[in-house]
Amino acid sequence: MSPDDIRRVLEFYQDLGIQSIYRRGTQLTPAPAAEPEPIFTFDDLPPMPPRTPAPKTIALIPLAPENDSLERIRADIGDCKRCRLCEGRNQIVFGSGNENSSLVFVGEAPGADEDASGLPFVGRAGQLLTQMIEGTAAKENIAITRADVFICNVVKCRPPENRAPQPDEMEICGQFLFRQLSAIKPKAICALGATAAKAVLGSKEGVTKMRGNWHKWRDIPVMVTYHPSYLLRPYNQNAKREAWEDLKKVLHFVYD
Ligand code: URA
Repeated sequence: MSPDDIRRVLEFYQDLGIQSIYRRGTQLTPAPAAEPEPIFTFDDLPPMPPRTPAPKTIALIPLAPENDSLERIRADIGDCKRCRLCEGRNQIVFGSGNENSSLVFVGEAPGADEDASGLPFVGRAGQLLTQMIEGTAAKENIAITRADVFICNVVKCRPPENRAPQPDEMEICGQFLFRQLSAIKPKAICALGATAAKAVLGSKEGVTKMRGNWHKWRDIPVMVTYHPSYLLRPYNQNAKREAWEDLKKVLHFVYD
């Protein structure tokens, strides 16, 4: 069987709700220590259906329970202790703004001000973000303020010393970010900085390469631009101009 055939078989059985398939003697998915003998082998599987390409949507595994809502997501996060970031945080910073917004901004992680207030982007970087949203909107005659958009982060707890979130922290918290995005269903997402771009798009490219063009998360257009903290550094003035251009594109796309 070619690797392609194996993948098709696995996808087919995943669609049927089968979660684990073990080759005799070789476990392909982790199982509890006391797990007995493998329950399936390829020899036991019924024949494959004809090779008709599956509709595209079947490949999208649901990320969220039906009728998900921000309220439910917040309740599911609870007093989260799923990763080490819980140890140093004061508060979980869930996100804020218009829950029915057509536009969601995704940052990296709360900093000290956000950890103290429970709200995203309220420190210096946050003030710059507010200025960028409201300044661009005013200049482009688009009648929105910060309160009209939704703002959240990839991880909801402040990392110690404001270090970048680690891959396992991003993965654990990413499920809640994806549920937020699915529940809000914005017309566009703006990923602020490399961490947000990586979490949302899974890409390893730098912001400089990705910014200015549209990408996609599921069916939602995603614009990547510089993180406001980066723009606060005095030697990044070119980037500042580019970020305003990116934002202009986003606002016209969403609100025209
Ligand atoms: N930087 C972020 O990425 N998020 C915040 O909420 C604040 C600063």
